[in-house]
Amino acid sequence: MTSLSQSNPWSPSSWRSRPAAQQPTWPDPEALAGAERKLASFPPLVFAGEARKLTHALSQVAAGQAFLLQAGDCAESFHEFHADAIRDKLKVILQMAVALTYASGVPVVKVGRIAGQFAKPRSQPTETQGETTLEVFRGHMVNGEGFSDLERRPDPERLVVAYQQSVATLNLLRAFTKGGFAALNQVHSWNMAFVKESPQGQRYEQVAAEIDRALRFMTACGIDLGAEDNLDEVDFWTSHEALILPYEEALTRQDSLTGNFVDTSAHLLWIGDRSRQLDGAHVEFLRGVLNPLGLKVGPSLSPAELVELCDVLDPEHRPGRLTLIGRFGHDKIDQHLPALLEAVRNSGHPVIWACDPMHGNTFTAQGHKTRRLSDIVAELQRFFHLCRDHGVWPGGVHLELTGENVTECLGGGDQIVEDDLSTRYRSICDPRLNAHQALDLAFSVADLLRG
Ligand code: PEP
Ligand code: CO
Repeated sequence: MTSLSQSNPWSPSSWRSRPAAQQPTWPDPEALAGAERKLASFPPLVFAGEARKLTHALSQVAAGQAFLLQAGDCAESFHEFHADAIRDKLKVILQMAVALTYASGVPVVKVGRIAGQFAKPRSQPTETQGETTLEVFRGHMVNGEGFSDLERRPDPERLVVAYQQSVATLNLLRAFTKGGFAALNQVHSWNMAFVKESPQGQRYEQVAAEIDRALRFMTACGIDLGAEDNLDEVDFWTSHEALILPYEEALTRQDSLTGNFVDTSAHLLWIGDRSRQLDGAHVEFLRGVLNPLGLKVGPSLSPAELVELCDVLDPEHRPGRLTLIGRFGHDKIDQHLPALLEAVRNSGHPVIWACDPMHGNTFTAQGHKTRRLSDIVAELQRFFHLCRDHGVWPGGVHLELTGENVTECLGGGDQIVEDDLSTRYRSICDPRLNAHQALDLAFSVADLLRG
C-alpha cells in the first residue's frame, strides 16, 4: 500500500498540511513566526557530515557489529543548566559504555538524550487543579512546569532559549569528549571506584578485573592509553524527540554538497509513541531529512503499520537510517515484540532493534511517577531473549538517567524504597536512574550481552 507520505513531494514545511499531534496552542502566532525567523538565521548545531558519520556507525549496529547506548534525561531543564551536571551525565554514559564494549566485544555507539531534549508529549492537553484548568506542561521549550497562568502559557521565546542552551551544552560535550576527559584508562578507573566502593558494584568485580587486565596488557604492549587519539577521544552524538515541528523546521538546512536536507538541531531525531501516525506531521517531516532516525514502538502499534512506517521512513532500505525502539513493559513485551520482529524482518528493512525498558514500566507511588529497577532489567532480559530467539541482533538500549544522586527509580544497590522517593526527586518529567542504578544496569546488560 502506498501511503499519502510516499506519493507527495517533501519540503521542510510539507508537514504543515498534516495533522500534528502534541503541539501546543501558541497564543501569539506573530511571536511564533518571529522566533522561527530568528532560529532560521542562527548557525546549525550539527553538520550533515556528522549525521552521515553517525548513520555509518549505526549501520554497523544494524549489521550486528556494534551496540547502541542512547541515554539521558527524560526532559532537560532550563533550571538545571550547569557544567557539573552535564559532565556527570556524560561521565556515567561513558562508564556504562566501557562495561558494554568489553562485554559485547564490539564498539558502542554513544548517543545522548541531550542538547535539545526539551519537549514532552503528554497524555492530556490540559491539567486541572481545583477549579482551574491550564495547558499541560509540555517541556521547557514550550512552557513552565509551575501551575500558573503565566508559566503554562506557551512562549515562543523559549524555542530560542532551548537553542542557546543546546549550543552551550553541545560545546561542552565536544570539549569533554575531544579534550582528554574521556580517555579510556580514566573512564575505567571511575568504574573501578564504583566496583570497589559500592555494594552493587562488587558483583561486577570479575568483569572490572578482566578489563583492568586487558588495559594493562595493552600498556605492556606499548600502547599509550592516554595519548593515542583513538583512546582519549570518543564520538558522542546528540539526540532528542523531534516534537515541536516549527523548531525542527527552522533548524533544517540544505546540505551544499548534495542538496539534501539535514535537521541540524541534533545528530539523531526520534518520533515518539504518541506522534507516529502514518499520515501525521511528524512522520512527514522526518521522512525528508537525512539524519538517522529513531521510532518508538509501543504496544498499540500493529506489525502491518510498523512495516508501513519503515517503508515511509526508510524507503531505500539504508542500514543505520532507522532504529526501532521497543517500549512495551516487562509484562507486555512477550505479547507484542515477536510479531513485530518477524514482520520487519520479512519486509527486508535493515533496522536496528533497541529496547527502551523505561516507558512501559512507569507507575505512581506516593504521588511520584517511578519505575522499579527490577522491572527494567526484566524487560531487557526478555528483549535479549526474544531477539535471539528470532535471529535478530539485540542492537541497543535507550535509557533515562542522570549523573546525579536522585531518588526517582526504586531498587538498586542503594535499595531506594517508596518512602525515599521524595528525598531527592528532581525530574521535571519521568523518573531517571541515578548514577549507581545506571552503572548497575550497564553491568547487567553486559551480562546479557555475554549471553
Ligand atoms: C520519552 O522518550 O520520554 C517518551 C515520551 O517516550 P515514548 O514516546 O516512548 O512514550
Ligand atoms: Co520519558
